[in-house]
Amino acid sequence: MIYLLGGSGYVGTAYQALLQRLGLAFRNIRRADFDYTDRAALTELLRREKPAFLINAAGYTGKPNVDACELHKADCLMGNAVLPGTIAAACADAGVPWGHVSSGCIFTGSRPDGQGFTETDTPNFTFRTNNCSFYSGTKALGEEVLAGHPNVYVWRLRIPFNEVDNPRNYLTKLIRYNTLLEAANSISQLDEFVAATFACWEKRVPFGTYNVTNPGHVTTHEVVALIKQTGVSNKDFRFFADEDEFMRNAAKTPRSNCVMNSAKLAAVGITMTEVHEAVERDLRRWQKG
Ligand SMILES: NC(=O)c1ccc[n+]([C@@H]2O[C@H](COP(=O)([O-])OP(=O)(O)OC[C@H]3O[C@@H](n4cnc5c(N)ncnc54)[C@H](OP(=O)(O)O)[C@@H]3O)[C@@H](O)[C@H]2O)c1
Repeated sequence: MIYLLGGSGYVGTAYQALLQRLGLAFRNIRRADFDYTDRAALTELLRREKPAFLINAAGYTGKPNVDACELHKADCLMGNAVLPGTIAAACADAGVPWGHVSSGCIFTGSRPDGQGFTETDTPNFTFRTNNCSFYSGTKALGEEVLAGHPNVYVWRLRIPFNEVDNPRNYLTKLIRYNTLLEAANSISQLDEFVAATFACWEKRVPFGTYNVTNPGHVTTHEVVALIKQTGVSNKDFRFFADEDEFMRNAAKTPRSNCVMNSAKLAAVGITMTEVHEAVERDLRRWQKG
């Protein structure tokens, strides 16, 4: 039996679809039914039920985007920094191995050598570096809380997308936003992300942190070119002149734009589609909402 926390969310729904496709028994636990933020209650449940594995897809993201986290700081701290520690303690107590959905948004830019950040690089978009959004700060705290814990995977997701039109999908956002910010990013195809992360457990690869992004990186202009090429939209896409204009007109808090290196995941035999190829494939099979 697999336990899934936050299974009703955007990422959690993809986990549910994967587990159903694999024909595996799982239980989606919603806070409305069972308060998994209560450490004693969660410990008791895990001790009693002894699930083989637990996936934490719960967290606070802010709707419609991370700007909302600046207004809901307590929820954001609870969901992203405190909750991982609660789950870690309960899982350790009950002897349940687990995986945590983290984020690549704790980095900005690329390494000084121009390469993507690896799992051994220190996050540079955090409260410690004092340059981040509240959301990114709490996600980095969540990773700090889990540092050194055995029996846990920390999976870094970055800007999810797939072929299904959805306000949470990166491709939908680019299609719908009035004006875009040019940036280079490593991004994660959502269904490949959940499959790759679950494969970590199935293949029993070593616990620890993994960047789970499609190999390579894309620029906003490259994705827009693919949106036009595939005929998904032919609108006249407009761009901000620079990040200053974006911050003045469209955002309350800085965004993380960053390049990640996913070689560690590939080295354990779990591969994802090259990023341009994945974006083009999903645009060619685009399902309009
Ligand atoms: N979407 C992205 O762009 C993105 C990118 C990188 C990383 N992530 C990470 O992926 C995880 C899931 O994100 P998502 O996009 O699926 O979010 P979502 O759609 O908002 O779903 C998150 C789920 O978390 C649960 N939850 C637990 N504590 C919460 C709290 N304090 N506030 C709000 N919800 C809480 C809720 O489930 P119940 O109430 O049903 O239990 C909710 O359905 C988060 O940790 C997020 O940081 C997301």
